[in-house]
Amino acid sequence: MHSFQYYISTEVVFGTDCLEKLPALVKKHGGSRVLIVYGGGSAVRSGLIGRVEALLTDAGIAFDTLAGVQPNPRVALAREGVKKAVALGADLILAVGGGSVIDTAKAVAHGAANPETDIWEFWKKRQTVTKTTPVGVVLTIPAAGSEMSDSAVLTNAGEDEKRGLNTDLNRPAFAVMDPSLASTLPKRQVACGVTDIMMHTLDRYFNPVTDNAITDALAEALLRVVVRYGKPVCENPGDLTAMSEIMWCGSLSHNGLTGLGGNKDFAPHQLGHALSEKFDVYHGESLSSVWPAWARYVCPVNPARFAQYARNVWGVEEPDDVLAAEQGIAATEGYFRSLGMPVRFGQLSGVGVQDEAGIEDLALRCSYRKTRTVGTFRTLGYDDMLQIYRAANEKGD
Ligand code: NZQ
Ligand code: ZN
Repeated sequence: MHSFQYYISTEVVFGTDCLEKLPALVKKHGGSRVLIVYGGGSAVRSGLIGRVEALLTDAGIAFDTLAGVQPNPRVALAREGVKKAVALGADLILAVGGGSVIDTAKAVAHGAANPETDIWEFWKKRQTVTKTTPVGVVLTIPAAGSEMSDSAVLTNAGEDEKRGLNTDLNRPAFAVMDPSLASTLPKRQVACGVTDIMMHTLDRYFNPVTDNAITDALAEALLRVVVRYGKPVCENPGDLTAMSEIMWCGSLSHNGLTGLGGNKDFAPHQLGHALSEKFDVYHGESLSSVWPAWARYVCPVNPARFAQYARNVWGVEEPDDVLAAEQGIAATEGYFRSLGMPVRFGQLSGVGVQDEAGIEDLALRCSYRKTRTVGTFRTLGYDDMLQIYRAANEKGD
């Protein structure tokens, strides 16, 4: 186990009807003038935004709104949000939505605290965030884990780039998690969310550190629970028993817990980000369509690790490690399929089977034009990325 430091500053309020606690939480975390950030309409249609506004109004909390965040959120809208936050004198940014809304709120929070700096400078690592504005969250979709994570991912359409920023200043001050707020989700988004939740732990689990028993056990338990409840919740997003498990797993899977003492890999995420950058595909679908190809490519580095995963998560009984490893990968791929998720490019809406030039373009994007490698379980350079994308591109059902 490697040395680590772990501090999660997010106050979590979980359960049905916990929205009523919002005004008290806003005040507790210093909010008196709040910029509410939300998405393309679902939170308005469900009445949630109306409820949030009424709660703040009744508590005497001033607010303005920033609407229209889209999946794979754009830096341009976040810049608009910074202007609004500065004009309001906002002392808290309230995200009402999922990963895209929360990440936009994080960007607005950094921009409002540093109005002299264009926020994209932080994402390009040309400037470092040293101060920010508190962010509160009302979560509406279990998926990205941004409600507790140290990460925020933005797309700059002008520069054709999707980039993540990791800093503890990205951790929200509080998160309100009412599983019933997610019951209006379309099944496709639930499936994307379940996949992303699995991937946040898988991208930590497959790393070079193997003497990490408690972290491994936590990771395997989380994966078993997600596998168990993922299908029922996709079939019926109103199943509150299943949604509660999935929502809490979503936060635990990306708040760092399931990777403590290890070396994050996150290569599948980086391979997926290149797909979203180029084709604007949903994050969860970008992950399911590259993971099987990634897993089979890197597995020979340490088949015993994949065998452990197969036995402890999928109940594989095969004694031979190499065979067990492949059974675990096949089980994962089969599970994604059973959720209706794409497992190769031909099934990925808006992408389809690519020609060789398309594959090279993806590898160029993922390698930042051949200037970086990704992953730790097996370090991947441009040529490795090409091979993984080619495998993900193979025709098949
Ligand atoms: O825009 P609206 O109309 O609200 O619809 C949204 C959106 O179309 C809809 N939705 C959300 N809650 C709903 C709902 N529809 C009905 N009822 C509800 N209760 O769902 C769609 C997707 O929303 P989005 O916020 O994009 O989903 P998700 O939470 O999966 O976030 C994806 C984004 O987060 C980034 C991804 O790259 C992507 O940009 N990630 C952020 C991370 C982080 N900050 O820690 C980590 C992740 O690995 C990920 O990269
Ligand atoms: Zn993710």
